[in-house]
Amino acid sequence: MELSRIHYAKPSITDLEVKYASDAAANGWGPNCYDYIYRFRDLLKSYLDVPYVIPTSSCTGALHMALAAIDVGPKDEVIVPDITWIASVSPISYLGATPVFVDVLEDSWCIDPQAIRASITEKTKAIIVVHVYGNLCDMDEIMSIAKEYNIPVIEDAAEALGSLYKGRKAGSIGDMSVFSFHGTKTVTTGEGGALIVQSKELYEKLLVLESHGRDPKISKQFWCEKIGYKYKMSNLDAAIGTAQLERIEELVARKREIFLEYQRILGCRPEISMNPEVAGDINSYWMGTVVFDKSVNFDREALLKDMEQANIDARVFFYPVSMMTPFEDKPQNTVSYSLFSRAINLPSYHDISSAEIRRVCDVILQYLER
Ligand SMILES: Cc1ncc(COP(=O)(O)O)c(C=O)c1O
Repeated sequence: MELSRIHYAKPSITDLEVKYASDAAANGWGPNCYDYIYRFRDLLKSYLDVPYVIPTSSCTGALHMALAAIDVGPKDEVIVPDITWIASVSPISYLGATPVFVDVLEDSWCIDPQAIRASITEKTKAIIVVHVYGNLCDMDEIMSIAKEYNIPVIEDAAEALGSLYKGRKAGSIGDMSVFSFHGTKTVTTGEGGALIVQSKELYEKLLVLESHGRDPKISKQFWCEKIGYKYKMSNLDAAIGTAQLERIEELVARKREIFLEYQRILGCRPEISMNPEVAGDINSYWMGTVVFDKSVNFDREALLKDMEQANIDARVFFYPVSMMTPFEDKPQNTVSYSLFSRAINLPSYHDISSAEIRRVCDVILQYLER
């Protein structure tokens, strides 16, 4: 008998999401065309406890606007971790600036604050930090370095909705932050994102930028003051997102349950480490991940092949972005260049069953016994 497919990621969609999406499709037009967008925005604002939220059509678009708002341009450098999805980096290139890839820490897989310090130059215009797979960056240290040099910090919290750093939500600490609501994320709108802003001044600048350069303070119709962007979230997407945010505690709790189940089975193996949770923090465990110790003669492709044969959709850990074709290799980032080849992501979708988690673990345990 063929075993059912275990997916890598898949959203949790209930009658509530269907009800709101149907309502938006039937009624969310004309004068009501922003209703769910505003509800979604306000729910996110209160969940994160932040002053300003701009819903967007993607996290990539949100980051593009965040960098534009602080006037990143050619000749500027932006510091970014080498381990992340390329979406944290592409907007730097869109604006003609140079990404400076910085190594990550062995334990958190997040950017190394001391490597940030060592990479700051007169050209550094911003620091992007990424809470990878739900893990948390050392925000106190990062914010203190950034303050010393007066450089804005943008948190890429695409993968960390629900994680808490010393009691503060990931995405509520940097000068600006971005989230993704792509279909693989803990909360989804299909495609979607959000830009979080702490300062009123930047928020007002962004309201012009996000509306094709139209200034909301100028009543002249279809009048643009500058070249802006069009990364707006649709009311239909926001309807699904509103239902998801009304369920956020449940969605995050389920992610934690899934991870803890993986950890119960695999955590006792000394050859494996998994997403860390530092005392005082909460990891929302977007994506359970296993890293094999350097002492293991680990063959990532062989394990992924075993997974595929068991009809399991496991995935590779992020490649160092600097290793990819558009950039120059930076093997000096020794942690990044070692980590990626020793790790895989585990299927972590909300509806995964205990029996399916067991199946995934069995493949790993059998691999270790070989
Ligand atoms: C760390 C990180 N940043 C940015 C993004 C981009 O998100 P989006 O696909 O919504 O643009 C992702 C999405 O996968 C991500 O994982």
